[in-house]
Amino acid sequence: MMAIWSTIKNLMYGLLVRSRLMYYILPRLLPILAKHFIDLTKLGNHYVTDESGHKIKVTQCNGQIYPVVDVSKVLSIPHITIRKDDVLLCSYPKSGCHWVYEILHMMLNKHLRLTCSGKEFEGGIDVMPDILLDSLPSPRVLNSHLCYPELPVGIKEHKTKIILLVRNPKDTVVSFYNHHISQKGITGYDGNFCDYFKLFMDGKLEFGGYFDYILEWDSVMRSQCNNAIHLLTYENLKDNPVETIQQVARFLNIELTDSFAVQILESCQFDKMKVQREKQNNELVQFYRKGVKGDWRNWLTDEQSRSIDNMWKERMLHCFYQPQY
Ligand code: A3P
Repeated sequence: MMAIWSTIKNLMYGLLVRSRLMYYILPRLLPILAKHFIDLTKLGNHYVTDESGHKIKVTQCNGQIYPVVDVSKVLSIPHITIRKDDVLLCSYPKSGCHWVYEILHMMLNKHLRLTCSGKEFEGGIDVMPDILLDSLPSPRVLNSHLCYPELPVGIKEHKTKIILLVRNPKDTVVSFYNHHISQKGITGYDGNFCDYFKLFMDGKLEFGGYFDYILEWDSVMRSQCNNAIHLLTYENLKDNPVETIQQVARFLNIELTDSFAVQILESCQFDKMKVQREKQNNELVQFYRKGVKGDWRNWLTDEQSRSIDNMWKERMLHCFYQPQY
């Protein structure tokens, strides 16, 4: 009986995935489901507590901290099916990956349309249901905030090309704080920036510490890693957008004229993305806040800024990435 049921389930799964029905339905349905029907406040099994006692709800699994997702999703990540022509965008949260996800999508698919629901409801392998990932049309852009050892096994087997997106830690902590505050309905967090800053410095937030993340990738890049990795920084993309995405195109072996690069960048402008996404799911989370370089100057005290500089001097001076502010 069990065998018959499992065969039926596999057949139905294959049918849904092959017909790509899920790809058309799920990205459109997920924001609505998440907003109205999925009680995200019921997910999560752990709290991170700041110095004043304010709590952030998270999911803890295998000793790591994830955002509020189902534990079964976290456990399925190593087994996600990877295709030969996938491209993987890796980044610490709040580095601008919604932006770069759209740019990569347009480069790979040679069109100028924003994706149906953005990486939040499509290629984010850390949170998206496997059935949706399986039914995304190729070439897929996948995105993860995990470090190399926790990535799906298939990424290493297929030698998937990895774009590693990095943003300076001072703007990242500001963006992450605002992200958590805007998600108060889900994570319950309403602490102040000063306490949050300490959590960031101590590496207690979801997906672990920013500095550990950079150091882990640093050792991956120095090791005999199977995957080709291209470093892309938020700051370079802001300052020299055409040149920066031309470098990505060369890394991915994509022919890209400067005029098409300019069109892509125009289509992915902050204001355009913000307007389109906020129409779809503005109550869920604020992914499009300011979209600028250097907002940390409005938030960090001199002491906080110095503590990041000191941390960098102590631990990170040899790293492949050195921040620009
Ligand atoms: P701020 O909070 O500093 O505004 P992620 O996509 O990794 O969650 O990162 C979110 C950050 O990227 C936010 O930073 C957001 O505003 C910024 N961002 C999103 N789209 C952008 C765009 N098209 N251009 C520049 N920055 C963008």
